[in-house]
Amino acid sequence: MCGIVGAVSKNRNILPILITGLKNLEYRGYDSAGVAYLKNNKINIVKTSGKVSKLENKLNKSDESNIGIAHTRWATHGKANSVNAHPHRVNHITIVHNGIIENFKEIKDMLEKENYSFKSSTDTEVGCALLNYYYEKFNDVDKTIKAFMNKVIGSYAILMIIDNDLDNLYVMKKESPLVIGITDKTNIVASDIRAILKYTNKYYILDDFEYARVNANEVVIKSVKGDILNKELHTIDIKDSDNYKGHYKHYMLKEIMEQKTTILKTVLPFIKEGLDSLKTLPDLTKYKEITIVGCGTAYHAGLVAKYLFEEVTNTRCNVYLASEFRYQNNFLSKDTLTIFISQSGETADTIAALKLVKSKNCPTLGIINVEDSTISYLVDTCLYTKAGSEIAVASTKAYTAQVALLSILVLSHGLRNKTISRDRALEVIDEFKSIEKLITPLLNDKDTYLSIAKNIYKEEDFFYIGRGLDYYLSMEGALKLKEISYIHSESYSAGELKHGTISLIKKNTPVLASATNSCLNPKTISNLKEVLARGADIYLICNDNYKDDTFTIINIPRTSEFIKTVLVIIPYQLIAYYTATLRGTDIDKPKNLAKSVTVE
Ligand code: AGP
Ligand code: GLU
Repeated sequence: MCGIVGAVSKNRNILPILITGLKNLEYRGYDSAGVAYLKNNKINIVKTSGKVSKLENKLNKSDESNIGIAHTRWATHGKANSVNAHPHRVNHITIVHNGIIENFKEIKDMLEKENYSFKSSTDTEVGCALLNYYYEKFNDVDKTIKAFMNKVIGSYAILMIIDNDLDNLYVMKKESPLVIGITDKTNIVASDIRAILKYTNKYYILDDFEYARVNANEVVIKSVKGDILNKELHTIDIKDSDNYKGHYKHYMLKEIMEQKTTILKTVLPFIKEGLDSLKTLPDLTKYKEITIVGCGTAYHAGLVAKYLFEEVTNTRCNVYLASEFRYQNNFLSKDTLTIFISQSGETADTIAALKLVKSKNCPTLGIINVEDSTISYLVDTCLYTKAGSEIAVASTKAYTAQVALLSILVLSHGLRNKTISRDRALEVIDEFKSIEKLITPLLNDKDTYLSIAKNIYKEEDFFYIGRGLDYYLSMEGALKLKEISYIHSESYSAGELKHGTISLIKKNTPVLASATNSCLNPKTISNLKEVLARGADIYLICNDNYKDDTFTIINIPRTSEFIKTVLVIIPYQLIAYYTATLRGTDIDKPKNLAKSVTVE
């Protein structure tokens, strides 16, 4: 969500660094963009609603600068227009900000009494004025930042330039991510090291309540108390080229296709030597229960794991939305392992839930895709999904990597608690090893998905149904369609339809079901007949060669439940994708959404 880049250099024009950085952060989602840089000894601000390319066009091509800050905004307070876009400037202070100043109203009232007035509706401008207020009061940057950090409630990654201190960038952080990349005579600050990999792979990570003074020669990081900190310099080993689309029209399609390899890549370390490798996964038998926490797609992956933990290994598992978890009685105990699932490792709600569990000294495990992310540092044990960079806002390959890794975790647990036999475990391992063969025909069946997309793309409502595991999978299917096509789509337990939702079914309403559990299938088919009788168009994903001329049927190979999930989801992902292409939406960056949701 939103991106921040700042750069300061002795010998280099930093404007291309700022623009490249913003472009690399575009995938996170934003609605406006802006930049502030030193020009003729003054701070020049250029900002706009809309895309970074629009901002780039507004910049004077001949401008060069050695210090600047830049921002893509995902509006929380005030409309997405150029007035509210960052940077904001109040007297001596210019800032960009990612996050939310929760007590902005109280601060604004206080500042208005001090004769401050405001041009925008943002919480950020209030924060900027507060920094200016303290700066004028103390005439000392350390005291200013300390007072600001003590006063502000909420989250922030802030880059600040002070008018009469124009060799330095100041950065401060609480809850929103911020790194400081180091290169020779140029230092670059960003929300994510991946945004500036073209320039450096060496960086410091700022922790909460830390701030730094960054100039062309040095980086001085301090705690809120003002103590200088000796932070670890990290090195990241991924190539900038991970972020290219290749011949694909959209990152989303590229990422869907990459599932041919990413699933196996994720689980291979734990299955390559058969049952012995499985033993390298954490032993969960010491816990009475498992709790899983995540948001959106990660939450849906958690539901799949719940099904497997409970139905296959007889281990109780509760799954919570991270945004709800911290505000309810969550029965934390040392006997319960809490698993946090997150692609980005930066989701604010998930981080807040994790901090709560840690504050009670209860055990935690992370299933994380982005290495060196905040959650990966905070959890007791971190298992990485190996999906690689996921750029499209709609998660696809991260989801299948999550469910595959969780399935393997359940498998190892089942062996340990003796609910799964060695033979069965070996069969599942063999299935995972042949995933490419199983999944490729599904990935290649463009004609089927496109013909379904042609039938449905003008509809405004779409229902997904299923029972048991199929219900959990349909939730992810419905999320994919609504995120990128903007068609209203909801998933329901098939048995629950007649308790209310069936009233919405009319002629040609599309209903997509998955029915891949032979015990439950007859019931789901009956539910489909009920909606068919009311005029619905039925699409069915199944794995037992069920035949019915009144339905459009997609067959997937019959496998164990451990691997079925990653097969069923492929038609869901591709139907959503092709439907969105027909509707002409911005598939990789859907409106209102952000890749990394760094505000609660
Ligand atoms: C998925 O398609 C979504 N864009 C979204 O629901 C996402 O899964 C959610 O925000 C969680 O993100 P995370 O995995 O990075 O924590
Ligand atoms: N809360 C700030 C605003 O609405 C910052 C939002 C962001 O993180 O982009 O301007």
